[in-house]
Amino acid sequence: MIRKCLFPAAGYGTRFLPATKVMPKEMLPILDRPLIQYGVEEAMEAGIKNMAIVTGRGKRALEDHFDVNYELEHQIRGTSKASLLASIDRLIDNCTFSYTRQISMLGLGHAILTGEPLIGNEPFAVVLADDLCVSSPNGVLSQMVEIYNRYQCSVVAVEEVPMSEIHKYGVIAGTPIDDDLIQVTNMIEKPVANLAPSNLAIIGRYILTPDIFDILEATKAGAGGEIQLTDALRAQAEQGKVIAYKFKGQRFDCGSPSGFVAATNHFYHLSRR
Ligand code: UTP
Repeated sequence: MIRKCLFPAAGYGTRFLPATKVMPKEMLPILDRPLIQYGVEEAMEAGIKNMAIVTGRGKRALEDHFDVNYELEHQIRGTSKASLLASIDRLIDNCTFSYTRQISMLGLGHAILTGEPLIGNEPFAVVLADDLCVSSPNGVLSQMVEIYNRYQCSVVAVEEVPMSEIHKYGVIAGTPIDDDLIQVTNMIEKPVANLAPSNLAIIGRYILTPDIFDILEATKAGAGGEIQLTDALRAQAEQGKVIAYKFKGQRFDCGSPSGFVAATNHFYHLSRR
C-alpha cells in the first residue's frame, strides 16, 4: 500500500527566472491553482493521504498554501467568494503535510534522500509538480499504484519524446512485458541523441521502494555535478527491480514556458466547456 507521496520542490527553477527569483516554481498558477496543488490532488486521487514536501530557501509560500488563512477566510465568509477555497480546503481537511528543507541543492536524487526522514522504510510515490499530468478517469499516479501493487518494485512513468528533445531527460532501455510495461535494464541521464538507448523518457512520476535511500546515499555526483535519481534507479534496474510504464494521459512540462502555456490553454478550454 502506498501511503506517502514525496514532492521534491527545492529546485531553483532557473528556466522561469526572473518569475522564480523569490516565488517557488511550484506556486506558478495554471488558471486558479498553483502547480503543487494539482500534484497533491493527483496523489489524493491515488488514495495517498500523507504529503511530504522537500522545500528550500524562499519556499515558505508552499507551506502557507496548505494551511488556513484566518484573515482571508473571515473576510469572504458568507459571500459568494467563500466557495473559491473549496478545492484547497478539501486537501487540507483530508491530507497531512510534512516538510523538510534541502540545504544545498545537489540534485533530484539528493532531494529525495533529504526526504527520507519523512518517508521511512516503506514504498512511496514521487511527484515533480512541474510535470502536470492530466488523465481520466484515473490519474497517472493512480495508474502507477495499480502497477506497483501487481509487481511490488519501483515504477517509473515514461513517454515517447522526439529524439531532438531526448537530451533533456533520463532515458530507459529494456524488454517489453506488454504494450505499456517495460522491464528496465538500463537508464541514462540526459544522453546525446545518438547515445540514447530509446526514445522513452522518464517523466516526473515515480513509485520507489525504500532501498533507494541506501543506494542514493552511496551514489556519487553524476551528470551536471548533481546526485542523479537516474543513477540510483539504474542500480535497482540491474537487479530487475524497475518497471517503466507508458502512462495513459497527457503531460505538460510546466517548468518550461511553452509547456506552461500549453497547460494553461488546456485548462482554460476545459473550464469553458
Ligand atoms: P529540475 O530539473 O526541473 O530543476 O528539477 P529546477 O531547479 O526545478 O528547474 P530549472 O531546470 O532550473 O528550471 C526537477 C525537480 O527536482 C526538484 C525541483 O524542485 C523539481 O521539482 N529539485 C531539483 C530539488 O528539489 N532539489 C534539487 O537540488 C534539484
